[in-house]
Amino acid sequence: MRLNLLALFGLFLAWATYKIYAGFKTNIAKARKAGYPVLITPIYPLSPLWLTTRHFFLPILTRLFPSCLYSSYIFVMTPDWEYHPSPRSHFARLGSDTFLVASWNGLACYTSDAGVIYSVMSRREAFPKDTRQYGILEIFGSNVVTTEGQVWRMHRKVTSASFNERNAGHTFREAVRQTGGMVGGWFSSSSSGSGSGSGSGSQEAGGEGDVEMTGTITTLEHDTMRWALNIIGYVGFGLKLLWPHEQMPSDVDPKLAKYGSLQPPSGYSMTFADSLATVLERIVVLLLIPSAILKRIPSRWGSWGSKLHEAWEAKVNYTKYMNAFLKEKVEDIRAGVQEREGMNIMGQLVRSKYDPSSSEKSDGATKLEDSEIMGNAFIMTLAGHETTANVTHFTLIELAIHPEAQRRVQQDIDAIFGRDSDPETWDYEKSINALLASYIGAVINETLRLIPPVVVTPKRVADTDQWLQDEGQKHQMPAMMPVMPVISAVQRNKRYWPALDKTKGGDAGDLDEWLPDRWYLPSMSQGQSTADEKEEKQQEENYGGYQGLDTSPTLFRPVRGSFIPFSDGARSCLGRRIAMVEMVAAIAVLFQKYSVELAVDEWASDEEVQKMGVEEQREVYAKAQKKANDTLHQAQSVVTLKLTGGRHVPVRFVRRGKERFVGDEGLC
Ligand code: HEM
Ligand SMILES: *[C@@H]1O[C@H](CO)[C@@H](O)[C@H](O)[C@H]1NC(C)=O
Ligand SMILES: *[C@@H]1O[C@H](CO)[C@@H](O)[C@H](O)[C@H]1NC(C)=O
Ligand SMILES: *[C@@H]1O[C@H](CO)[C@@H](O)[C@H](O)[C@H]1NC(C)=O
Ligand SMILES: *[C@@H]1O[C@H](CO)[C@@H](O)[C@H](O)[C@H]1NC(C)=O
Repeated sequence: MRLNLLALFGLFLAWATYKIYAGFKTNIAKARKAGYPVLITPIYPLSPLWLTTRHFFLPILTRLFPSCLYSSYIFVMTPDWEYHPSPRSHFARLGSDTFLVASWNGLACYTSDAGVIYSVMSRREAFPKDTRQYGILEIFGSNVVTTEGQVWRMHRKVTSASFNERNAGHTFREAVRQTGGMVGGWFSSSSSGSGSGSGSGSQEAGGEGDVEMTGTITTLEHDTMRWALNIIGYVGFGLKLLWPHEQMPSDVDPKLAKYGSLQPPSGYSMTFADSLATVLERIVVLLLIPSAILKRIPSRWGSWGSKLHEAWEAKVNYTKYMNAFLKEKVEDIRAGVQEREGMNIMGQLVRSKYDPSSSEKSDGATKLEDSEIMGNAFIMTLAGHETTANVTHFTLIELAIHPEAQRRVQQDIDAIFGRDSDPETWDYEKSINALLASYIGAVINETLRLIPPVVVTPKRVADTDQWLQDEGQKHQMPAMMPVMPVISAVQRNKRYWPALDKTKGGDAGDLDEWLPDRWYLPSMSQGQSTADEKEEKQQEENYGGYQGLDTSPTLFRPVRGSFIPFSDGARSCLGRRIAMVEMVAAIAVLFQKYSVELAVDEWASDEEVQKMGVEEQREVYAKAQKKANDTLHQAQSVVTLKLTGGRHVPVRFVRRGKERFVGDEGLC
């Protein structure tokens, strides 16, 4: 008996050894044929088993392999190598912008070469999206992000109808309003949760009108998240969500009041905004643990238990809101109620299915299931919430570190809108192009370049081998291999990006620094002429979303494929225009009347600052700048780009002209 077992085990071992050997042999041969450097790893870094267990095995691996081998080969198995120690470091060491990884159980290609990235992103049939990694995002139904092929086409066609210039204009106005709400919260301070934190800001008084400076704000990340959520509530569902200090306007549709309410309406235990925010925040838990189990986890199992319980509660409540929303919308359509003017992706999807007079009705192929309507509405909030919030958050911090950039932003706002105009009167059509081409556009671009919220957009080779043209050479890419454009790395590649100051930062120049002036340098490559691009544009099919240029000829024009925070080609971000519009609106509203300063409470009190001379103030501010910069750089070396471990950068908003450190007569 024991002998039999042993024999069986021996047989298994022999079989496994053979499998591994044969796997290595075929995969290495396939990889070598592509003609790029090949890294051989003990385990395939993208295998699901490795991805879920690597936190346990990585320390063992580090010990097993000598550090030189580890850093030169095994780095691809670590979770944050696209950022750590810096996005360029591994590509630079390998001396190649494209490399392949081969292991016995898989192949993959990573690239930070703009030409390779552009051809991969523009040839969707040859390099489709690797949707195998997205199935889990179908929690509320299949959708435009998670599908490929014909199904994706249908989703893209139906959803892209909402992303037009009229709706971008509506979104602009809502973003202006929401930014006003965020600022209002900071200035009305002490009463509400968001806003002043550490208590050392003693100058706050009654209304916003006469206050010169907010208290120290330690919740910028949280506030920009709320801001983005409120806007996505509008974009996705046509809702006007409120800040805690705001009143529900009297003209609001009573049906919609339920969703916009700051208190849970009857029958619910959470507000719509909270249920959505919690579902978005706990998405991983909801994806991994089935509802039937989550539901039974009692909330008294410590903070852990209550978090899981809350995730489930949020999902239940959110689903209920969505079902009610769908039902009410269908009733409205049946009763012939006129649609309210404005952006409302979910409403438009329901209409396209149920409205007999809808223009898309006749096209049988483009009818979504109810679950697909839910899936798309949800994925829009997921795709458009944290991304926009984080870019805005990081831009504000970078501006606080770089007061001279604030001055340039303010000059441009004054030129476009005037210093005293009321933002509610700003005209979208007249001003949007100027805004995008201004220093406001440059600071947002520079944040998107340096800290892109999406680091990798997974593609794969189609079902048959594909040829890739790369600088005159042809590369045979093996069928089904994942191809990963590394956005963080190509956006700092000195082959495509000019340094402002060539003497700085050694080999990499100053490409690791946040310097918006870069966007005014002469463009680098004449390789792709405008005529070429026009021709390409014509050959590309129209997949909806914004098609126009948001550029001006005097600005720096990145080589195609080197600036891809929104991806490129058919699968590029549907919300790009909306996101840019939201972000320029926020910067314009904030900096028209205010400046942002790093809080220096750690080094000096308000009274001490007041007594200081310019030189002393400069020293204190330099300390705050250094600390903020360090905090940001730490964030940049973890994969999700968050300020981990409760780190944050405290700031204050100050009425223009009242700056302590960064005013006209101040430091800069
Ligand atoms: C700064 C903000 C944003 C950034 C950086 C961003 C970035 C991206 C990127 C890189 C992709 C491609 C993902 C992939 O291929 O895996 C993408 C896709 C997408 N984004 Fe965004 N996004 C932003 C905001 C938004 C907003 C506000 C919305 C919607 C309101 C949105 C909706 C979408 C959708 C629907 C897709 C999938 C398109 C398709 O596959 O056809 N995004 N986004
Ligand atoms: C919201 O979740 C709670 C679970 O704690 C549940 O009791 C309540 O019924 C839910 N509300 C709705 C409308 O489903
Ligand atoms: C920001 O980047 C986009 C995309 O490359 C470009 O068209 C635009 O001109 C840039 N804006 C500025 C102000 O440089
Ligand atoms: C910010 O920190 C990074 C890394 O610590 C450093 O390379 C860079 O020079 C710093 N920038 C400024 C403006 O201090
Ligand atoms: C944005 O910031 C939040 C909060 O720090 C973080 O949890 C999330 O992973 C970030 N998301 C992206 C896309 O950078």
